[in-house]
Amino acid sequence: MARERRRKPIEGTDRRRHERDPRSIQPECKVVKGKVDITHICLALAAICCVVGFSVYFYNLYMQWWLSRRVITPHPSPRILNSNSSSPTVTPEKFWGSYRPQVYFGMKTRSPKSLVTGLMWMQQTELDVHLRHTCEQSDGLPSYGWLMHDGLNFGVQEIRDFGFLLKTEFAKRIGGQHGGDWSWRITGRAENAEHQASLISLLFYVATDGQGMLQPHLEGGTRLAFLTGSTEELGHFQITFQKPWVGENKGPKYASFNHLKAVSPGLHRLTDVVKSSLSNHFIHSPPGGKKKHYFAVDTYQPAPESPGSTPPSENCQVLVHQVTLQLPFQIEVVFESGSFMDRPNQLSGEVLSAVLAQHQTAFEDKFSSIFQLRKKGFSPLQEQFAMAALSNMIGGMGYFYGHSIVQSKYNDQPVLYPEGPLFTAVPARSFFPRGFLWDEGFHQLLVSQWDTAMSQEVIASWLDLMNVEGWIPREQILDNEARSKVPSEFILQRNENANPPTLFLVLEKLIRGLEVASLVQKDELYLRKLLPRLRSWYDWYNTTQAGPLPYTFRWRGRDEDTNMYLNPKTLTSGLDDYPRASHPSSDERHVDLRCWMALASGVMADVCTLLGEPAEEYQRMQQVLSNNVLLEEQHWSEQLNAFADYGNHTQSVVLEREKIYIPPGQPRHHYPSPRLVRAIRKPPKLQYVGALGYVSLFPFLLRVLQPDSPRLETLFRDMRNEKKLWTPYGLRSLSKTSPLYLKYNTEHDGPYWRGPIWININYLAVKALHHYSSTEGPFRQQATDLYQQLRSNLITNIYHQYLETGYIWEQYNDSTGKGQGSYPFTGWSSLVVLMMAEEY
Ligand SMILES: *[C@@H]1O[C@H](CO)[C@@H](O)[C@H](O)[C@H]1NC(C)=O
Ligand SMILES: *[C@@H]1O[C@H](CO)[C@@H](O)[C@H](O)[C@H]1NC(C)=O
Ligand SMILES: *[C@@H]1O[C@H](CO)[C@@H](O)[C@H](O)[C@H]1NC(C)=O
Ligand SMILES: *[C@@H]1O[C@H](CO)[C@@H](O)[C@H](O)[C@H]1NC(C)=O
Repeated sequence: MARERRRKPIEGTDRRRHERDPRSIQPECKVVKGKVDITHICLALAAICCVVGFSVYFYNLYMQWWLSRRVITPHPSPRILNSNSSSPTVTPEKFWGSYRPQVYFGMKTRSPKSLVTGLMWMQQTELDVHLRHTCEQSDGLPSYGWLMHDGLNFGVQEIRDFGFLLKTEFAKRIGGQHGGDWSWRITGRAENAEHQASLISLLFYVATDGQGMLQPHLEGGTRLAFLTGSTEELGHFQITFQKPWVGENKGPKYASFNHLKAVSPGLHRLTDVVKSSLSNHFIHSPPGGKKKHYFAVDTYQPAPESPGSTPPSENCQVLVHQVTLQLPFQIEVVFESGSFMDRPNQLSGEVLSAVLAQHQTAFEDKFSSIFQLRKKGFSPLQEQFAMAALSNMIGGMGYFYGHSIVQSKYNDQPVLYPEGPLFTAVPARSFFPRGFLWDEGFHQLLVSQWDTAMSQEVIASWLDLMNVEGWIPREQILDNEARSKVPSEFILQRNENANPPTLFLVLEKLIRGLEVASLVQKDELYLRKLLPRLRSWYDWYNTTQAGPLPYTFRWRGRDEDTNMYLNPKTLTSGLDDYPRASHPSSDERHVDLRCWMALASGVMADVCTLLGEPAEEYQRMQQVLSNNVLLEEQHWSEQLNAFADYGNHTQSVVLEREKIYIPPGQPRHHYPSPRLVRAIRKPPKLQYVGALGYVSLFPFLLRVLQPDSPRLETLFRDMRNEKKLWTPYGLRSLSKTSPLYLKYNTEHDGPYWRGPIWININYLAVKALHHYSSTEGPFRQQATDLYQQLRSNLITNIYHQYLETGYIWEQYNDSTGKGQGSYPFTGWSSLVVLMMAEEY
């Protein structure tokens, strides 16, 4: 995430204008002198001066405009993905999907103004309404997530709410020209006797996003039996809400029905619309049972300020079908596409059961043939855990459409990036339900193992977001729904800011084993389309993030307000608060970025070689950047006995309470309460940054070190040392011996990359150990031992935490192993599946 400061309007352009005018005008005035009519000459000169002056003035205006447009000018090379690549005619099997990772259950199509469908629910209690809709950590659900999801045909999710369990399943059937049909099945049951008679409401909704229309069809005045509708991309369709059953084949279930027809001022307001339309004057009266008041959708009164405030085109038409019934139950929703003429039967009841079972078997077969976990000695339960980890990564994929909000140093105000789509996985459905550039490279390591074509599409989708400079905004907050979840200071993306180019990690994997001689046309075509964008991307890093010495690199965009932070953050590096030079300056060089560039150079060289394009300069870069002598010259600190960043740094910093002088007799509350500010005990100087942790490991993590480098031995010793990086749960991010270990960065900003165990970096460590253990060298045996121990520690702990808490977590505590941070975090923490399978 980017915490950005607003800049003052640019001074550069004005200054340039003043510098240029005299230079271009004065010489002309000097040339002519003499007896001819002085006034004529002066007039002529004045005219020339005016013309030149104006031209310079307008030229500068033009330049200013041109520079300010660059940040939002798309990359000139043809897009990798055709604009119709996600359309139902080109990829019908992927048109519909659970592409709304931010809701517990919902589906949409891969189109800009998609029809959206979803489920909200609530338990009817006397006291309060807890409406579940978007994935919120504050709901505190005991667990939820996909148990199976193949990214194409079906998904099975289990949601545990307090006292009861909901299973949400969907299956698709392709046919016709608009992406075909799908059906949902929601099964509810009590988890204990106490909740046996609980009254639950399910609220199914269908909403348009500014285009299309919906028509409700009621039965008996209140029950929404089905709806018909049409949109540009879906054509005509019908959605049928089946009557509930007690359980499969166990007869009908008594239920109360309500419905709502409303207009919402945007999809991000759906929860509000439903909440504010609830009323509890309804009575549920099952035959022979107790009567009970319950909350249900009634009528929606838009808040007074909303009419007229949103243009009608952005309004969405919403239909809600509410079913209120006691546990247990089963209920189905059937979507049928109008152009699907020859459907053999309706996808519901026993037909649906059969289709789900079929997909399930196919999923299990594919999973075991790809990952082979049983052969590696894992139990059926451990295999199910791995299936859930993979399924949540795949089931968490989203399709987003819209624009980022960006700014360059040439813009006084934030500007809108061009609109476009993004097909991507997300780090966490609850807390980070959107695209993050550096997470995505890790995500696709796993996804590509399951479905290479899907990964290729995701990589292309990200590269298509590139601007003419070769920049890709690192956090993708594309629509109102996404923006409603992000604090405003993080929304703006600046074009100086990088993020680790992890897509090269996946590309490295995708081209591994490809040979020039046997390169199939499909792969060649794909790589050829990628190449111009990859080149620009590489150049962008190579130029904008260059360091002070040749072949060194520096992350831009560090916090500059050194007074407020114990150590100014480097959000762009991905390792937010990992200790760097205490005083950000242009003298810094960052060892992690240098290693990322070594990786990028190698992959670029390989891609170019495969395609018969000039590769020499990338090869040269790769050789220079992996030259271990040069690496040590620039980043090895004898004193620290470790690889390190270099910069203007002092170790002696503390956070202290400000002293505020209050004159005698003055009331204390008239003065601001004293803040924690940074105090410098010893002035900074240019030196290596004393921090041992993930950053120090990068030459090893990205396999820049030669297998016979004596530094490997030192690194291995630090990794295995429990007073430094080793824990029974994985490698901690910062050594216990480091001054900033577990230190708060401000009063309220707790340690993030200063101790806790992160799975993406641990995955890189396991992968690198696997590499050094299978390469000849003096430390091969040490690498092998470490590999086995580290891999086993990570898998054991992540699995146990999952059993204990129901979730996979953002990070793990380095002293207890407990999951912490946001959850479910089935982005890069799901890489545990690859560690289990030993696929690197
Ligand atoms: C998709 O678009 C491309 C060019 O944009 C075109 O060549 C192709 O025929 C289109 N495919 C379909 C199925 O419409
Ligand atoms: C990267 O930048 C350096 C320094 O400007 C330059 O010498 C080198 O050619 C660039 N590398 C590539 C592959 O363009
Ligand atoms: C290091 O930072 C301090 C404080 O900002 C500054 O006074 C000093 O000049 C810097 N040193 C170097 C070598 O840049
Ligand atoms: C890890 O757990 C320990 C013991 O419960 C606690 O003191 C520490 O603050 C935790 N670490 C983090 C980063 O929360």
